[in-house]
Amino acid sequence: MINSNIVASNFSRKSSSYNIEAIFQKDIAKKFFKFSSTHSNRKNNLNILELGCGTGFLTIPFLQKYSNSNFLLSDIAPGMIKENKKTTSLLRSMQNVNYEICDISKNLPSGHFDFIYSGLTFQWVSELDTLFEKINLALNDKGSFQFSMITKNTFTDLQKSFKLCNIEYSGPKMVSTQYVIDILSKFKNLKHQIVTYNEKYSSVMQFLKRIQQTGAGNPNKTHLSPKSLKKILKTYQNNFAESNGDIIVQYEVLFISAQK
Ligand SMILES: C[S@@+](CC[C@H](N)C(=O)[O-])C[C@H]1O[C@@H](n2cnc3c(N)ncnc32)[C@H](O)[C@@H]1O
Repeated sequence: MINSNIVASNFSRKSSSYNIEAIFQKDIAKKFFKFSSTHSNRKNNLNILELGCGTGFLTIPFLQKYSNSNFLLSDIAPGMIKENKKTTSLLRSMQNVNYEICDISKNLPSGHFDFIYSGLTFQWVSELDTLFEKINLALNDKGSFQFSMITKNTFTDLQKSFKLCNIEYSGPKMVSTQYVIDILSKFKNLKHQIVTYNEKYSSVMQFLKRIQQTGAGNPNKTHLSPKSLKKILKTYQNNFAESNGDIIVQYEVLFISAQK
């Protein structure tokens, strides 16, 4: 079970290393922005809400695209909001931008919006169907909703290693792309794209350290004992590493564009 307080604290503590370490997230933000532009014909003067704004990988291109709009930027982690304020300071001075600390697994910021977007955040929410209901209610008529999220076929070798060791997987429980598409049935003009992405690491330890450095560490109260961690590292390395010891980590990311 995801513990929101732990998620907020993990991301806040790593907010300053996120900009440097989050290479995959930066690349996906660029790809998602391209996808978003292909599927949107919105003009300016909009009320816009970003969920899980992080340090601003998506905030920056959307602020540039929708000048003369009102932005509400929200995140659960105060540290992320602090970094976002730094990276967007020049752009913000020209626009009406507000911030709100908010746990979207409980509530959305109040208000009505023409456009709601989010990047790589919804995998941290356990009850996605409830979240989509709330987003639908918060959108104005014909409002747009676009997001990216990490889905089930991600970190498959890590998940298999936990299973081989008989230890419960400690990352967020990821859902399938089809599940997400199915629960969006209330929305119109649904478009999607599935992106697969590989990263190479020289060891399993290097990969796990990168996860920690981007704030995406264990969201549960239960901690892995050093003995269990050692067992998982060994199992992963022995079963899934290439002959030179490198490992290839797979991500599956779903891009969605929809309308109320
Ligand atoms: C992987 S980062 C993505 C940040 C940014 N959107 C990007 O594309 O780089 C995930 C973000 O979601 C935020 N987050 C996680 N769970 C959340 C929740 N329940 N409510 C709001 N924000 C949340 C984290 O604090 C973090 O900033």
